[in-house]
Amino acid sequence: MRIDIITIFPELLKSPFGHSIIKRAQEKGHVEIHFHNLRDYATNKHKSVDDYAFGGEAGMVMMIEPIDRAITALKEERNYDEIIYTSPDGIKYNQKEANKLATLKNIIILCGHYKGIDQRIRDHIITKEISIGDYVLTGGELAAAVIINGLVRIIPGVISDETSALTDSFQDDLLAPPVYTRPSEYKGWKVPDILLSGNFKEIDKWKEDQSYKRTKCLRPDLLDEQE
Ligand code: ADE
Repeated sequence: MRIDIITIFPELLKSPFGHSIIKRAQEKGHVEIHFHNLRDYATNKHKSVDDYAFGGEAGMVMMIEPIDRAITALKEERNYDEIIYTSPDGIKYNQKEANKLATLKNIIILCGHYKGIDQRIRDHIITKEISIGDYVLTGGELAAAVIINGLVRIIPGVISDETSALTDSFQDDLLAPPVYTRPSEYKGWKVPDILLSGNFKEIDKWKEDQSYKRTKCLRPDLLDEQE
């Protein structure tokens, strides 16, 4: 998979992709992540990418031309399955959306700033708008990092124990069961006996039950969605 990110702050974005699983996914060739500085596509000598809003609205708006030039240049090189704009107005990012995006070959993510982008880009160029939650960030870079982190880890082969990604919270609209490691007792706090029993059929049953109970207690809305 190839991900092209268009941003005015490429440096801000590099660190989240330079560590751990996401770094290894790139080294192993599962994903390529490319950064494009929007200012490189600005047309005036000040390299400006924003301008005043028509109609007297407060705040600056990201201009149409640099964004169109950046996206056109990328589209001349390859076809894209989605051109995503990170925005609080978008569909709420969740595990199902991450699963869907993880199957795609090429995507562009445009990170918004200021008051937003000229509406004509949304009307004519963007194919999907994604929000990471009902709050407003100063820019779309952190949202892009969250979206990419969520989808890269489920690309087949990225996590060596593939079942590990499949048993994540949310994969079946249930939260994951609790997990424990050694020591089996600490300050008198014990690991549930069943996990030490070696009876894997019963352990699986226990995990399912715990998933359900946890979801019912912490996120009952997920169970409502299933009904
Ligand atoms: N840009 C600003 N806030 C955002 C949010 N909540 N999700 C995605 N992009 C954003």
